[in-house]
Amino acid sequence: MSVPLRVLFVEDSEDDCALLLRELNRGGYDSQPIRVETADAFRTALNDEEWDLVISDYSMPRFNGMQALAIHHEIAADVPFILVSGTVGEDIAVESIKAGASDYLMKGNLIRFVPAVNRAMREAAERRTHRRALVSLRESQGMLSLIYNATPDKLVLFSALPDDSYRITSTNRKFLDFVEQTLGPTGPATIPGRRLEEMADTVFACTPEATRSLRDRADQAMSEGRPQLFETFFTLPGRRLHAEITFTPVADADAGTRNLLWSCRDISSRKEAQERQQLLESQLQQSRKLEALGQLAGGIAHDFNNLLTGIIGYAELIKASGNARVPEHIEQVLHAANRAKDLVKQILAFSRRETPERKPIYFEPIVREAIQLIRASAPSGIRVEAFIASDLPPLVGDPTQLHQVVINLCTNAVQAMGDQGKLSLSLETVVVDSGFARNHPPLSEGEFIRLSVGDTGTGIESTAMEHLFEPFFTTKPTGSGTGLGLAVVHGVVRGHDGTISVDSRTGEGTMFQVYFPVSGSIPDSRVAERPDVPQGNGEAVLFVDDEAGIVSLATAVLEQIGYMPVSFTDPVKAFDAFQNEPDRFKAVITDLTMPKMTGTELAQALHRLRPNLPVILTSGYSGAIDGDQAARSGFAEILGKPFALRTLAEALQRALR
Ligand SMILES: Nc1ncnc2c1ncn2[C@@H]1O[C@H](COP(=O)(O)OP(=O)(O)OP(=O)(O)O)[C@@H](O)[C@H]1O
Ligand SMILES: [Mg+2]
Repeated sequence: MSVPLRVLFVEDSEDDCALLLRELNRGGYDSQPIRVETADAFRTALNDEEWDLVISDYSMPRFNGMQALAIHHEIAADVPFILVSGTVGEDIAVESIKAGASDYLMKGNLIRFVPAVNRAMREAAERRTHRRALVSLRESQGMLSLIYNATPDKLVLFSALPDDSYRITSTNRKFLDFVEQTLGPTGPATIPGRRLEEMADTVFACTPEATRSLRDRADQAMSEGRPQLFETFFTLPGRRLHAEITFTPVADADAGTRNLLWSCRDISSRKEAQERQQLLESQLQQSRKLEALGQLAGGIAHDFNNLLTGIIGYAELIKASGNARVPEHIEQVLHAANRAKDLVKQILAFSRRETPERKPIYFEPIVREAIQLIRASAPSGIRVEAFIASDLPPLVGDPTQLHQVVINLCTNAVQAMGDQGKLSLSLETVVVDSGFARNHPPLSEGEFIRLSVGDTGTGIESTAMEHLFEPFFTTKPTGSGTGLGLAVVHGVVRGHDGTISVDSRTGEGTMFQVYFPVSGSIPDSRVAERPDVPQGNGEAVLFVDDEAGIVSLATAVLEQIGYMPVSFTDPVKAFDAFQNEPDRFKAVITDLTMPKMTGTELAQALHRLRPNLPVILTSGYSGAIDGDQAARSGFAEILGKPFALRTLAEALQRALR
């Protein structure tokens, strides 16, 4: 395969031209005999066409090689030019090479001709490559300088000198503009050659410490060979410049890292915007806090108002009337006061912000105690079913708070059911897997104690679902719900690293499930956590004992545990009082041996009026009557004297269930 070569011959002899062409063909080139022999023709050919090579004779009748070289130099200096002469002359050879010829050959000795063409072509190709490289270098330098000067950052290039200083070697336009602003129109001229420290001091008005810290950053960039990016600010006359500074070590092609690029970006407006935003956020937070506080205060005030209206109203009725309905009004007063007490308890539980008591305890007795309370207070149409797994592990927590969780969930369940329904409670351990844990933060995989409280009540509307745990969210009529119950539950559960889930179907019922992590350590004692003494709810209780001392003590005790005692030392008078208002008393507590009428006789008489009335027997003589006898005589419970407050409270609670 021959290489196409566009050759322009400057030659008066057609034969010589053919000879050279043959040589070229033999050397592997494919060329056409295009020949000129005058200056004009040569000039025109060079101007009009592209050539790979010019081969010129030295002397021609109307033209010569040196003239041709001059024209070639003027029009197409890049095209290789080989001079082929019939005359020998070293001086001509030297002269022609000086004038730009690639080579000089003798017509009589063409052995060197093809190698000379080869070399000329190779050198021409190299020149072209070199020229292209130069062009693109110039282009990229132009581009770089465009970018260098167009960037909004202030750029300064330092060179790291052996005397341990960084000196400015180049700066961009933005930096010079800035210098002009700060140092005046003569400022820029003073910049080249300045040290980093001088620049910090004069241009950026840095304190000595700030200057030192800039210098440290520069050193760090150089020693680590990595850019150093940091934020700082400069206090310039009349304004503060927040800046993002980058020191970038710039590697030198041969001698490692010797240059350092400083870039200074003005982030003042971004900073100001951030500060404004932070201010707004904190204001918003503050106003949310105030809003929540207002809501809290409003909720409390509202409920207390209702309760106080009841208390004051009934108290005034009592004051005005002094008649037989006094006990009933007192009962209302007590009822309202008790609700106020509960409300305060909820608020305290809700507002308690300190971390709960943390000790290993068993949840089981707490739940059992709560179940008892619920059984005692729920309407009779509500069945309470409880399943408590055996050998439950302990958990770490605060017994009072946990008690509150169970009570609040059960109370809601009962309230959602009205008169009829089933409340189911279960307490068991469950193993949480990774999938469940992911959907229920903050649960992690592992063993948990799960309390489930299910009811067959109204269910929860989907619109209410998202607000369920918000303080003061309630759907209950004014006076019967404050909306704190679930907020307390939520707070307690979170405080115990647990979680809560709700499943509800409107019209069918609701299931709340609470998960608490189990604890590795064992509580000091299984019965360490004695539940609170069960409290009454202002129920009227008839108390009969012939001993005045016992009567006054029992009266005080009954009041203390939340009942409304009506007490007699005379069983006949007691019976009369009962006969006057047979529905008023929820329970009767009577002594066994009394003059005029024994406890057994009194119980029988009362049961004739109200067969289901719970009557509790107290007796000073152990063995005077046994449990079976007492049951046969219609007593709900039998209490040995002297009875402790707790025993009395628990007996009453069981009797009233
Ligand atoms: N088991 C449930 N069934 C149906 N609705 C429920 C149940 N539990 C809670 N809710 C709904 O969630 C609301 C909020 O409950 P939460 O216990 O926080 O307040 P509350 O019961 O209304 O008032 P409080 O508990 O302060 O007396 C209730 O008003 C009720 O609408
Ligand atoms: Mg509630």
